[in-house]
Amino acid sequence: MIRLIYASTALNEWGTEDLLKLLKECRAHNSAKNITGILLFSNNTFLQVLEGDEASVTSMFALIEKDPRHSDVTIIEKQHITERSFPYWSMGFESVDSNQLTNIPGFNNFFAKDFTPAGLAANRNVIAPLLSHLRAKLISQVTPERHEELPMQHEDPFIQVLHRTIRIGVKFLALLMVVVILFGIVDVVYVIYEKIAQPPVMLMTINDMLETFGAFLAVLIAIEIFLNITLYIRSDVIPVKLVVATALMAISRKVIVFDYKSLPAEYVSASALVLLALGVTYWLIQKKE
Ligand SMILES: Cc1cc2nc3c(=O)[nH]c(=O)nc-3n(C[C@H](O)[C@H](O)[C@H](O)COP(=O)(O)O)c2cc1C
Repeated sequence: MIRLIYASTALNEWGTEDLLKLLKECRAHNSAKNITGILLFSNNTFLQVLEGDEASVTSMFALIEKDPRHSDVTIIEKQHITERSFPYWSMGFESVDSNQLTNIPGFNNFFAKDFTPAGLAANRNVIAPLLSHLRAKLISQVTPERHEELPMQHEDPFIQVLHRTIRIGVKFLALLMVVVILFGIVDVVYVIYEKIAQPPVMLMTINDMLETFGAFLAVLIAIEIFLNITLYIRSDVIPVKLVVATALMAISRKVIVFDYKSLPAEYVSASALVLLALGVTYWLIQKKE
């Protein structure tokens, strides 16, 4: 396979209608020939990426080059590739104005006016950041919409009221969680005070320390739950990874303060299983990300 990138100057005025007509033409031909890529139009200049097997791309380019609707057709890059950069688009399309161009990372101001075949040929280093930006943009366009669990807008006003009520409820829960966190902190202080006030005064045994860690971890779990709640408000999706992490912390907290002398073996084994299952789940989520 090869990737061919060229730039050209559009002749005549190209309105949205003309561009759409061209795109329609491109898409039909390109998908038949298994050619993918992107066509960018900015500053009266076309920048097109064509990817596919060498013979198809070369013959397509020969056709495009002769097209009387543009001139100054200049090859910017032609190279063999093993993987397509734009695999999903028989011809992706972007029309970008010079302001948007300068907002793309890796670009600077002079580039907007240099977005011409000659300018692009002289500044080949900007092609890679430009293409990766366009690629990310196209990918975000085809990525399915974020799943909204409690949409604020709903065709049924009654459901909308219910959603709003639940959202208010979630906010109230977040507020209560802050109160619980503050109580947890007071509890940590109290546990430490209690341990060092008991004889031997100002000394902590290993068991005292483990109990103190338990109190600390309870506050940390409360903070995790608070984060779960606030994330839920912000993103409308249950942050599965955070929920699993919170459960892992909660069970770990129990394990840390286990008193193995008094606990039955079944209890310890069951906790070990839960811990293992949560650990594997967390690892799988992490891996998928
Ligand atoms: C900037 C520009 C880019 C083009 N890109 C493609 C393309 O990717 N695929 C395509 O089939 N035609 C493209 N065309 C159109 C071809 O130049 C040509 O008009 C068309 O392939 C001829 O189709 P026909 O043989 O059915 O008349 C492009 C034209 C222009 C001006």
